[in-house]
Amino acid sequence: MLDDLKRATAAAHEKAEEHNPARHIIDHSITENQYHKLLAHNYQVYYAVEKFADNHKSKLPEKVQNLLSFNKTDRLKNDLESLGQSVAEIPDIDLTIPATRASIIGALYVIEGSMMGGMLIARHLKQCDQLSQKESKFYGGKPQQHVQRWQQFKDSVVDENFTDQEVQEAIKSANIIFKLF
Ligand code: HEM
Repeated sequence: MLDDLKRATAAAHEKAEEHNPARHIIDHSITENQYHKLLAHNYQVYYAVEKFADNHKSKLPEKVQNLLSFNKTDRLKNDLESLGQSVAEIPDIDLTIPATRASIIGALYVIEGSMMGGMLIARHLKQCDQLSQKESKFYGGKPQQHVQRWQQFKDSVVDENFTDQEVQEAIKSANIIFKLF
C-alpha cells in the first residue's frame, strides 16, 4: 500500500513542491501576508482531514486509531493565534472522499507524510527576513518526533492487508487531499 501511494502521488507531490506557497519559505522570499495565508489554508485542510478521520475512527485499524489526534491542527492554531488570528474565523471545508478504511488511510498518508517536508521547511523559516515568526509550532518541533510518528504510521499500515481495489481507493483519496493544498 505505502509504495503504491508514494508512486501514485509522486506527480501530485512534485506539483506541491512547485506551487505550494511553502516554496517561498524555502527560497526565503515569503512575506508575512503569504505566510499567514499559508497557515490559515493549512489549518483548513489539516483540520478537515483530522476531523474526518476522528469522525470515522471505528472504520480504522486499532493501531491507526491510536495515532489519531488533532495535533497538527492544534499546532497551526497556536501559530495563527500568535499572529493574532483566531481560527474561529476560518470556515470549515467538507471532504469529498468516501468514509472507508482505505480512503481515510490515503488521506492520513498525505498529512502524516507532509511533515517530512515540514522539517525541511522549518530549517528555512529561520532565514526568512520578512517574517516576524521565525519559529513555528507547526513546521518546527523536534524532528525525531516527526520521524518517529511517520514511522509509526507506516508500521500501522504495513500490518494491514488491502485488496487491489482498496489500494486504488486510497490512492484516489490521497490525490484528492493533495489537490486541496
Ligand atoms: C515546498 C513544498 C514541499 C517540499 C519541499 C517537500 C519536501 C519533502 C521531502 C524532502 C520529503 C521526504 C522525502 C523522502 O524522505 O523520501 C517529503 C515527503 C512527503 N511529502 Fe512533501 N514537500 C513539500 C510539500 C508537501 C505537501 C504540500 C504535501 C501534502 C500536504 C506533502 C506530502 C508529502 C508526503 C505524503 C511525503 C511522504 C512520501 C513518502 O515517503 O511516501 N509535501 N516532502
